[in-house]
Amino acid sequence: MRTELTFANLSGIKTELLAVPAVDGQTGKGPDAKPEPFLLTSDTAVKAAAAAVLASGEYKAGANETLLLHAPAGLAAKRLLIVGLGKQAKATVHGVRNAAGTAVRFAKPRGIRELAFALPEAEALPTGPCARAAVEGAFVGDYDPDTYRSDRKDQSVQGFTVAAPAREDRKGVEAAFAEGLIVGESQNFTRALVNEPGNKLTPTIFGQRAAAMAAEVGLKAEVYSTEKLHELRMGAFWSVSQGSEEPPALIVLRYEPAGVKAGPVLGLVGKGITFDTGGISIKPSDNMEKMKYDMAGGAAMLGAMRAIALLKPKVRVIGIVCAAENMPDGKAQKPGDVQTAMSGKTIEIINTDAEGRLVLADGLAYARQLGATHLIDAATLTGAVGVALGKVNAGVFSNDEEAYGRFVSALGVSGEKFWRLPLDEEYAEMIKSDIGDIKNTGGRFGGASTAAEFLKVFAEDTPWIHLDIAGMAWVEDPRPFIAKGPSGVAVRSILEWVRSYQG
Ligand code: BES
Ligand code: MN
Ligand code: ZN
Repeated sequence: MRTELTFANLSGIKTELLAVPAVDGQTGKGPDAKPEPFLLTSDTAVKAAAAAVLASGEYKAGANETLLLHAPAGLAAKRLLIVGLGKQAKATVHGVRNAAGTAVRFAKPRGIRELAFALPEAEALPTGPCARAAVEGAFVGDYDPDTYRSDRKDQSVQGFTVAAPAREDRKGVEAAFAEGLIVGESQNFTRALVNEPGNKLTPTIFGQRAAAMAAEVGLKAEVYSTEKLHELRMGAFWSVSQGSEEPPALIVLRYEPAGVKAGPVLGLVGKGITFDTGGISIKPSDNMEKMKYDMAGGAAMLGAMRAIALLKPKVRVIGIVCAAENMPDGKAQKPGDVQTAMSGKTIEIINTDAEGRLVLADGLAYARQLGATHLIDAATLTGAVGVALGKVNAGVFSNDEEAYGRFVSALGVSGEKFWRLPLDEEYAEMIKSDIGDIKNTGGRFGGASTAAEFLKVFAEDTPWIHLDIAGMAWVEDPRPFIAKGPSGVAVRSILEWVRSYQG
């Protein structure tokens, strides 16, 4: 998708489709409340073209509600698309991100390959952040997961123009716009990986894809396998991989900006289970096909590393993905087995389906060994987080208020929803083992928190954030601005968290 930024008057923009945001400035209260939709533009020709339909009451400017006008009078555009941001008082930059995605997804099935999106003219919606969000939203909206359809029609949008209101400070808007391009492409990079089925994306191929991306954007990459796991004594990571014919991949990416020799080193660790059958504690067949996305945390780390390499924050970052297949086999680990993790801690395996925490245990230990001073991990770790938070929020845990505060600020920029869940000494009690140090499950109740407590043992005293994205990594119900399929959740938030540390 080619993207372009213009400061030209909306009415003069020659395009197949001009999308303009609208809000509902509702008048009256209670039973007297009346929707009052209006466009967030000062362009009088655009306003005149939409005046009649807005006055009709047929359109209410609800969030992502669209209305199309052909051959709008007085405009160079062939079509005018009004996209709702919802109630005026509640309109946000994130709403603009979704509105841009909605415009793109409106265009795609209609064979419209090029469009312009007008940024809102409204005090509460600053132009820079809106420019970035609109480009991100356009990339997110453009993605469709039908890669293996032999009759696939490429309906992707070829040209996306962001129309910003004319103003003094163009530089800031241009910079924000350029960021949006990098972030949007990086999120789609992640989604494309998550979408791949287990036979097309083995741990080895995952490693190759990571190395190719690293070469493209100038990151150092090392991809290790079985031998290195043994050398590092990664008994927890290996215990998952040992039941598969496919060798594991330990992916290590490094971002080392010139001139930054001191300060924090951020360790990004992702769960990369390319398929999770559950192992000997095998999962039921229903929905098992979904477990191809059990590498979404690892793919999110790669997407974030890609964006980091291109945006160049002044802070050192190490990205680690622990990729393996969790399979039942003659060599597979069994419930009751005891494994020794890289850190030396012994783990009693209660359920071989609690494998994500095992690979992450050694990934976190390795990040610390490589010098990480702050840790963040992302994983499709537990079904329990989905039970707790549904498909609305992802879960976040932390052992450090300062690092967590930065993550909350990052959410303000990313627009993603994460909800903090508790760590507690009493959850830690639930994973004490009779035979060894800890066990890999703590029972059905509090499953997201006991899983987080397990990881905390390996983060040790390093400030650490854990993202459980199991409920959010796959979109089940398509929305006007995003297709059914991989969401790319966490890429944007991890990126902003990293940028908060730049010196
Ligand atoms: N990959 C799953 C978690 C998952 C569930 C991801 C649903 C995406 C959607 C994870 O490895 C797993 O199997 N967790 C178990 C843990 C249990 C055995 C303690 C679970 O949540 O049931
Ligand atoms: Mn599992
Ligand atoms: Zn899993």
